[in-house]
Amino acid sequence: MAAATLQGTGNFPARPLQPQGQKRSARDAAAGGVLASLRRCAGAACVAFAARNDRCMTHDPTAPPQERFSAYYADRPPWDIGRPQPAFVAAGDRIRGRVIDLGCGTGDLAIWLAGLGRTVTGVDFLAAPLAQARAKAAARGVAVNFLQMDALAVGSIPERFDAAVDCGLFHTFDDAGRAAYVAAVGQLLEPGARMFILCMADREPGTQGPRRVSTGEIRAAFQDGWEVESIEPAVFEVVPGIPGAEFSPGGARSWFVTARRTA
Ligand SMILES: C[S@@+](CC[C@H](N)C(=O)[O-])C[C@H]1O[C@@H](n2cnc3c(N)ncnc32)[C@H](O)[C@@H]1O
Repeated sequence: MAAATLQGTGNFPARPLQPQGQKRSARDAAAGGVLASLRRCAGAACVAFAARNDRCMTHDPTAPPQERFSAYYADRPPWDIGRPQPAFVAAGDRIRGRVIDLGCGTGDLAIWLAGLGRTVTGVDFLAAPLAQARAKAAARGVAVNFLQMDALAVGSIPERFDAAVDCGLFHTFDDAGRAAYVAAVGQLLEPGARMFILCMADREPGTQGPRRVSTGEIRAAFQDGWEVESIEPAVFEVVPGIPGAEFSPGGARSWFVTARRTA
């Protein structure tokens, strides 16, 4: 991803999505009107966007979440490593039965679990990664029920699950969103069912990327109707070489959380 060349002075009129002379990616072109309204940058250029009182949709935490994630998916997002995160692979034997993957993105975790014989539903609020997920599942010959919906609304799903997995969604919510999210997921899980979360830890230096989460915040989020069984140090691997998405060597310092539904 090349840094955007910023043009214009004074009142900072709207600038093109891509610097002149740089080709739009096929996915940008396919997304047409939607992404044409988004601004994207390449990490370091964010500073320039901010200084110009302008907005970078991928890095501005105040941008509406759907627009922010859409902008990421116009290119390869840092988290989209093409395979399940190692923390989930290590926990695979404990993730059993009917599984729901919340914020499933392009589906690698959901598809891997389905390949292990689990009955898997994947939920994401964006059509673009779900289209990729469906194509991958078809290519690999596994069945996954991919649903486009807001994770805050999953309580409306009539089905019940034995496990919920969350690879990188929990840490995207603000305090109010986090509470609503945990409550919604709780409606899907009967007592004894478990939720597994990989989220960025407060052990990860810097402020780029997702919100850092402390063990105290995790315990507070699951204090009603849940037992936090374990919070283990883990890493969140990312696609190397994406400006603005550089983390600790080996992967962003993270927590792998196992919480059991008790009520
Ligand atoms: C950090 S990405 C992780 C994607 C995937 N789990 C992975 O590991 O590759 C977070 C995903 O959650 C989705 N997402 C964010 N907020 C959401 C919400 N409120 N409801 C449903 N999906 C959401 C985004 O579109 C994105 O695909």
